Amino acid sequence: MAVTTSIHGMWSSRLAFILAATGSAVGLGNVWRFPYTTGEYGGGAFVLVYLLCVAGIGIPIMMAEVMLGRRGRQSPINTMRMLAKAEGRHPAWQLLGWMGIVAGFLILSFYSVVAGWTLAYVFRAAGGAFTGASAESIAAQFGTFIGDPERLLAWHTIFMVMCVLVVARGVASGLERSVRVLMPALFVLLFILVAYSATNGYFAQALEYMFRPDFSKLGTAGVLSAMGQAFFSLSLGMGAIMIYGSYLSSQASIGRNVVIIAGMDTLVAILAGLAIFPIVFASGLTPQLGSGMVFKVLPIAFGQMAFGQVFGTLFFVLLVFAAWTSAISLLEPVVAWLVENRGFSRVRASVLAGIAAWLLGILSLLSLNVWSGVTVFGLGFMDLFEFVAANVLLPLGGLLIAVFAGWVLSRAASTDELDTGRKAYAIWRFLVRYLAPVAVAVVLASAVGLLKALGLE
Ligand code: PHE
Repeated sequence: MAVTTSIHGMWSSRLAFILAATGSAVGLGNVWRFPYTTGEYGGGAFVLVYLLCVAGIGIPIMMAEVMLGRRGRQSPINTMRMLAKAEGRHPAWQLLGWMGIVAGFLILSFYSVVAGWTLAYVFRAAGGAFTGASAESIAAQFGTFIGDPERLLAWHTIFMVMCVLVVARGVASGLERSVRVLMPALFVLLFILVAYSATNGYFAQALEYMFRPDFSKLGTAGVLSAMGQAFFSLSLGMGAIMIYGSYLSSQASIGRNVVIIAGMDTLVAILAGLAIFPIVFASGLTPQLGSGMVFKVLPIAFGQMAFGQVFGTLFFVLLVFAAWTSAISLLEPVVAWLVENRGFSRVRASVLAGIAAWLLGILSLLSLNVWSGVTVFGLGFMDLFEFVAANVLLPLGGLLIAVFAGWVLSRAASTDELDTGRKAYAIWRFLVRYLAPVAVAVVLASAVGLLKALGLE
């Protein structure tokens, strides 16, 4: 029989869960990472593969993750151990939870650094730093900014403290209220920006870039990245969605909620692309702008539009909140585990986990400036952490979740959790047993082949 409540608290309603999970999904991944990786891999083909991954792999795995969380009602590590035991399987399944903890730390470390950039840009926008500035001077501003480790450290620290403060109090309390107001506001603002870009930027060119696939630019690396981006953007494969599922009441319909969450997440990513690319082309820039893209492109628009100072400030404030609600979900699985297994108070657990991620973040931060020459496998620390977490650990975690939900968990258990119609259940079961694991395995395996080929050359 499934457990009915969690010791860490429960969402007050189905809506609270949707809001929290959407808060986790929508973040820097949509607005910062989606546009720049799309630019890196040539546009349309990348977007197409990303969308296919969201629909065919992401949604079924998200359903599986919520389902496992709700049945276990504990931190991902203990949930996996308990569910494996209940099915008479090896406790090694808990390694899935451990892998998620590692992925969570890696992601949070660089995520907090980038969220720090966003915080800094709130004040730049408010101070009118972009008014009338050229694309070159805005890019130069960004370059000087990330070249200054002390500044980056200050903002990274502030952001991490913000996260620890919320997680220490328990995620169920404040999250619902803030996401309820801020998420719609972010949507409205993105629509305004898209409208601005549609009238003042090269919109037709951007549409063509984003939606006409050119597979010659994608390659195996591009497919791997598009799949990784789907996992990253949906917060899948590391236990964030699993732990949020563990606070969901047993009555709520998982399938419907997951489709809503994934739909909103994808919409925000597409809107961000539609706001950014028209300005990229209108300003004579190329889409290969790297991880500074949003910070180099949107300020151009804020510097020119009416009330740009107001919109710019508001935009970065909302982006900070979106990042905040995602970062919180990165901390929650490890904090829950520390509380369950080490008997720590939430406060102590949150502070410790926050310090660990903060320290790791310093590596990312220094890789942008003083350690820019230090590389591992040809990547600086920030790029390395991003690559390993998004393109390797999350897909691998997702693969194991799919296998567990599709092959290990009894049919009775999954039918019990997913009260979708028969047809929807059959589709879900097919996707989670065959399509998702095979697709992820094939992409990961061909990427390994690619690495070998590179190494041999
Ligand atoms: N989905 C978040 C974003 O797009 C990042 C994230 C990844 C959060 C994994 C939790 C787990 O910004």
